Amino acid sequence: MAESRGQWSGRLGFILAATGSAIGLGNLWKFPYITHENNGGAFVLVYIAMVLLVGVPIMIAEILVGRRTQLSPVGAFRILGQDKPGGKVWSGVGFLGVLAGFTILSYYSVVAGWTIHYTWLSFTGKLAELATDPVGLQTYFGGEFLANGPQQIVYHLLFMGLTTGAVYFGVKGGIERVAKILLPLLFLILIILLFYSSTTSGFHEALRFLFIPDFSTLTTGSVLEALGHAFFTLSLGMGAMLTYGSYIGKDISIPRAAFQISLLDTLIALIACVIMFSIINSSNIDVSKSSTILFTTIPTVFAQLPAANFFNAIFYLLIGFAALTSTISLLEVVSSYAIDDLGWSRQRSTLTMGSVIAVFGVLNALSLGGNTKLSSINLVGRESTAGIFGTMDYLASNWFLPVGGFLIALFVGWVLGARETSEELEKGHGVFAWFKLWRLLIRFVAPLAVGAIIVSVILGREYQ
Ligand code: TRP
Repeated sequence: MAESRGQWSGRLGFILAATGSAIGLGNLWKFPYITHENNGGAFVLVYIAMVLLVGVPIMIAEILVGRRTQLSPVGAFRILGQDKPGGKVWSGVGFLGVLAGFTILSYYSVVAGWTIHYTWLSFTGKLAELATDPVGLQTYFGGEFLANGPQQIVYHLLFMGLTTGAVYFGVKGGIERVAKILLPLLFLILIILLFYSSTTSGFHEALRFLFIPDFSTLTTGSVLEALGHAFFTLSLGMGAMLTYGSYIGKDISIPRAAFQISLLDTLIALIACVIMFSIINSSNIDVSKSSTILFTTIPTVFAQLPAANFFNAIFYLLIGFAALTSTISLLEVVSSYAIDDLGWSRQRSTLTMGSVIAVFGVLNALSLGGNTKLSSINLVGRESTAGIFGTMDYLASNWFLPVGGFLIALFVGWVLGARETSEELEKGHGVFAWFKLWRLLIRFVAPLAVGAIIVSVILGREYQ
């Protein structure tokens, strides 16, 4: 059975693929702009605390369930839950994950598709041209580009094609191979951009903004937003890490891997902030609060440089690479369900699921045109925005992921016994000295914190 499902080639393959899943539009797009809106410093600290107190423990829990059962979410919860209180009902957590994967992928790939268009515009020099006039670029993005239905569909389908292609070739031959090529490239591009940003006049101001906390600006809303984002950026709550964990061997330390993946993800998010704030600070461009900075403001700043086309191109390639390793993990959750539970071959499952999601995503691609205001596009936000795009985003970020994460924490903390979990965590690790702390976090802190998100959604509170 394990043979036909596939396995990573080893520790590095797993860490890279999982880190690739974690690093995505969440890090490069959402994190910089919510950090900006929440006034930097203190928000960053709270976010790091949330990653450590809630994110890492839940990631450990997901990987643990995956490796223990060697199954994707639906089967994993069914098998582990069957002789426990609640029984087979727990497999519902897996179904929720599959549904979340389906939903998120259908709109995530629309935004990811924009990076293809922008990379193309960079190579041809058209982007730099448009960006010499900030208003011109905004009009182009919001009007011409988003409202162009056929174009939105083509890029979305292209991105779904790339995603499906990678998953089609399997765990080692597809997913891991793509991650092993794209992640080093992504790090390289980030280092080039970081180096460049350190030479700009806005660099010190950016560091000060990010790393000197001012707690007087912190609100309950910021804390919840930090928590919600920690969840999304670490790919938690829908069994993506669980599925990736089902392809690792017993010789890998789960706590160490979870910590490393979270550390890399956080590091990249912070570097992205340093880069973006430095270049924005050093120009005199007025940054609106809009979530579309990435596609409107950044090229305007690059346009002032001698090598505008080069910087634009590597910048959008970077975002595209990051997005691709994330969409791959979203599709893998959905197609591994059909592989494990319906007994389909990987090829059949990937092609079917990939096509269904691609077709469904067309509705999202079209919902951006004309009547949707720019400011209402909020990729992983809280607000229920107009159109199907907004509804999908709202459902996934506010309901599927938090509820899924809450149930995963309850299951691992309360339904699985201490013996069963500690036994699994010690494989490949030896005695897990932090076991008691982890168990405390997964039993009490994680469910309460994630529960708070759900309660605030029910009460209809906005973050801001
Ligand atoms: N973590 C990715 C990001 O930051 C998005 C993502 C990929 C994701 N797979 C996921 C989010 C699974 C939640 C669950 O962009």
